[in-house]
Amino acid sequence: TDIVIVLGTRPEIIKLAPVIRACETNGVPYSVIHTGQHYSEELDAVFFEQLELPDPDYNLGVGSDSHGVQTAAMLVGIEEILQEEKPETVLVQGDTNSVLAGAIATSKMDIDLGHVEAGLRSFDRDMPEEVNRVMTDHAADYLFAPTDDSAALIREEGIPAKRIYVTGNTVVDAVEQHREFAQKKSSVLEELELQRGEYVLMTAHRAENVDDPNRFREILSGVAQVAKRFEANVVYPIHPRAKNRIEEFDLSVPRSVRLVEPQDYLDFLNLESHARLILTDSGGVQEEACILGVPCVTMRDNTERPETIDVGANVLAGTDADEILESAAEMDRTAPDWTNPFGDGTAGERIVDMVHHSKTTEEMEILL
Ligand code: UD1
Ligand code: UDP
Repeated sequence: TDIVIVLGTRPEIIKLAPVIRACETNGVPYSVIHTGQHYSEELDAVFFEQLELPDPDYNLGVGSDSHGVQTAAMLVGIEEILQEEKPETVLVQGDTNSVLAGAIATSKMDIDLGHVEAGLRSFDRDMPEEVNRVMTDHAADYLFAPTDDSAALIREEGIPAKRIYVTGNTVVDAVEQHREFAQKKSSVLEELELQRGEYVLMTAHRAENVDDPNRFREILSGVAQVAKRFEANVVYPIHPRAKNRIEEFDLSVPRSVRLVEPQDYLDFLNLESHARLILTDSGGVQEEACILGVPCVTMRDNTERPETIDVGANVLAGTDADEILESAAEMDRTAPDWTNPFGDGTAGERIVDMVHHSKTTEEMEILL
């Protein structure tokens, strides 16, 4: 195997699908290690099926636990497989604990590490994701930055330019490869009885938001105010972490907020595409809203996707209910005429090309 791809959660499966496809179409030998960080059918298997990805070669079945226990179990499992497989390169994507485990295991071996979606920074070290990003970028041999701005951020941290490649974000590839199919195949709007352009789509799952009862309560209250002002339904496909917290904190969900199960990719893309507005704390959803031309309000104090704000597609509201309402009203008046800052949808191809090509060149140099 030339390349081992490590993944573990919903966004990694979606954003690495274009990389896996590029390996397939270019005949590059690869294996996939699934850490098992996400394991519920609706966060995991459904995406392999729908995106027509081969089953992972390995599944570590690590599951949910504290950061230390979860990351340590992945590290042990990944190291063992890498010792067997001896790939030239390991690819990880994003900022989850699966990424960190893949990065630590690889960087202690004679194997190159490639970080897909490098150079994102919220500058908020209280977020576990920020710690994972910084550590992974500094361990990586190839840093695949989605934009010039993200490349500049890691240059400023002292990472040599020769390790950095601006490729665009593979989320553009994923959206482009599936949006038309989603229009044709998905009947989610009919099933949920939603009218195009009339409903608001929300997601909230970040630990710093939903694990704090006050913040989560403010979010729900802000979103309910948006529903009232817009005279619109809010649809909330709820992540299991958030669902558990609602039960644990005994939070009351306003009647205007419709909780639905996590959606598969085609249904979710369709829900995003036809929403009047998107309210979220997700990283991937901020990007997809921007790519799809749907105004977005981010219910966080910071974002590692400032490009979305720079082009006018997104605004930071924090989690104060009044701020959420005000930001929603502001974005609702915005004409969606921005250009997508995340590349041309060929990031997956470029990444595989880069990793594979530089290896082939190295081999040729040795032969010569
Ligand atoms: C993780 C990532 C986060 C990412 C998110 C994508 C870390 C530190 N966090 O957060 O950056 O945005 O994935 O969705 O890596 N659970 C299930 N079924 C599952 C997985 C989880 O029910 O398949 C529940 C469990 O109760 C678990 C909780 O969700 O305790 C949290 O799961 P965990 O993997 O720790 O983090 P996420 O919140 O999913
Ligand atoms: N997503 C999905 N179904 C849902 C919610 C999200 O398919 O019900 C997709 C979404 O299109 C995006 C990704 O999941 O590609 C974002 O993942 P998530 O919000 O869990 O994580 P984050 O991007 O914040 O790390």
